[in-house]
Amino acid sequence: MSKIFIMGLANIEVTCPVDAFPLEYSPIQFMSFKLSSSVSGVGYNLTKAFKTLGAEVELCTILGKDGNGSVIYNEMTGLGIPEDGLVRCMDQSFASVILYDQEGRRKIFCDLKNAQEMVYPYEIAKKKLMNSSIAVLCNTNLSRPFLKLAKELNIPIVTDVHVINDLEDEYHKEFLTYADILFMSHERLTDTPEEFVKKLTNKYNTKIVVVGLGKEGALLYVREDNFLGRFNAVSLRPVVNTVGAGDALLSSFVYFYNKDKNPYEAVKKAMIFAGNKIGYNGGASGFICEEEVNEMYTQYIGG
Ligand SMILES: Nc1ncnc2c1ncn2[C@@H]1O[C@H](COP(=O)(O)OP(=O)(O)OP(=O)(O)O)[C@@H](O)[C@H]1O
Ligand SMILES: [Mg+2]
Repeated sequence: MSKIFIMGLANIEVTCPVDAFPLEYSPIQFMSFKLSSSVSGVGYNLTKAFKTLGAEVELCTILGKDGNGSVIYNEMTGLGIPEDGLVRCMDQSFASVILYDQEGRRKIFCDLKNAQEMVYPYEIAKKKLMNSSIAVLCNTNLSRPFLKLAKELNIPIVTDVHVINDLEDEYHKEFLTYADILFMSHERLTDTPEEFVKKLTNKYNTKIVVVGLGKEGALLYVREDNFLGRFNAVSLRPVVNTVGAGDALLSSFVYFYNKDKNPYEAVKKAMIFAGNKIGYNGGASGFICEEEVNEMYTQYIGG
């Protein structure tokens, strides 16, 4: 029973290359084969990454009843995701637009409609949770009731609070309290990542923390070993677009950790998986399977 449970959202993502930020005004710009549109969003990115790596996934998500909702639904079922977790209760699908520059930096516009007011059918998620060995609960309101349930069922909880810089953050407090394995980005931290993680782990009982440091790699904290240390990013190909890098980091770490419970190997393999992913455009592109990660790991890190 090593299934990975995910509760998270998916959307149609349009990516658009720009010359530089800030963007200079002009009324229209024509281009050929530069704009692309695909299914993405944290819930989908994680699902596709886990499936590509080789995991069995139970996904709980809410989708639109519109045409884009059908596109997303078909992508998910095409990955082999069980249909009963895909609840089509939204009038409109979620959408995002991503502008990215030549260095791979990106600006995301994300429209989740009224997703934050929606409630996921409890019994469906409960059945799937009981069938899983680890639960990835994305940081939307949809996940909140299932933090408590996963804890009661003794299923390790993984969450990503993305950009955070305040331990008292009202929105994230519940996620910080329940998470066994916590991911976050360094992007808005005002302390050094090390200082922030020390304060965080003094206040909360988090067992493992992974902070994405962008091109600097990642910081790992492991409570049972009292370990706090950095792992370098692995440069595998030129950076195209860093959108979804954090999702790639989380999914590959959790995939390998769920297999052998070794967080040090998992973070090194995640550097390979994420380093490869950012050489492709789009949040759900550039994923590789477990064997490819292992081959590259031997080649670049020397497993
Ligand atoms: N510019 C880069 N150069 C090399 N590696 C990168 C770069 N950006 C990201 N990575 C790789 O991807 C991983 C995750 O990226 P990052 O730290 O930016 O995630 P995040 O900030 O938590 O999430 P996100 O940026 O997706 O919101 C990094 O640990 C690193 O391995
Ligand atoms: Mg980042």
